[in-house]
Amino acid sequence: MLVAQASRTAIWTAIGRGQHRQLHRRPWVFDDPFGLTLAGPDWPQVWTRLTTALPGRYVDQMVGATVGRARYVEDRLRHYPFRQYVVLGAGLDSFAWRRPDLLGELRVFEVDHPATQAWKRDRIGALGLPIQPNHLLVPVDFERDALLDSLVAAGSTPGCRRCSPGWAWRRISARRRSRTRCARWPAAPAAPGSVSTTSRRRSCGTPMGGRS
Ligand SMILES: C[S@@+](CC[C@H](N)C(=O)[O-])C[C@H]1O[C@@H](n2cnc3c(N)ncnc32)[C@H](O)[C@@H]1O
Repeated sequence: MLVAQASRTAIWTAIGRGQHRQLHRRPWVFDDPFGLTLAGPDWPQVWTRLTTALPGRYVDQMVGATVGRARYVEDRLRHYPFRQYVVLGAGLDSFAWRRPDLLGELRVFEVDHPATQAWKRDRIGALGLPIQPNHLLVPVDFERDALLDSLVAAGSTPGCRRCSPGWAWRRISARRRSRTRCARWPAAPAAPGSVSTTSRRRSCGTPMGGRS
């Protein structure tokens, strides 16, 4: 990922979540009313480019995988008394605005590349969305920074229960050093009952290729 630019795939998956409620009938697998607005005002052009450039099945898989993993994790989150929710590669995740009722007991740590987070902060400001005290944005470059140190510096307590979805695995796996570092995450000190979830999707080949 270029440092000066937000992740393309974060924008694509946010649009995918938003398009799920526009393109598909209820009941939706996952309802994200913030996806399209967080993705930026030019989301229709981005979506047109995406659907023009990629095979339909790839776009369907992308939307299905995106809403499926989001639903899975948030369902699990509801069934346990977690105190911390760590989202690695959070992108334009909107949990904090969809579930403000949970933010009293639960601290949410959104971890992502500094460039993506800077871009997201701009969108948050432009949309006038509130950031509650228990909603922390933690800028971390998985390829360079120490994840646990950054989380602890942001106020995370390693011994508390936590739950984490959506690793940016494909990108991470490109570099051995960051793969090794992030692969240690589930074994990092955590209280009994902590849960870690990872999504990984086999690529069906994309003509757009390249950076995430
Ligand atoms: C496919 S997006 C997923 C976003 C989110 N989990 C979702 O489902 O919408 C991958 C995310 O990984 C982040 N990412 C990629 N490389 C990274 C790195 N080296 N350090 C931190 N985050 C990275 C990107 O900024 C992007 O937000």
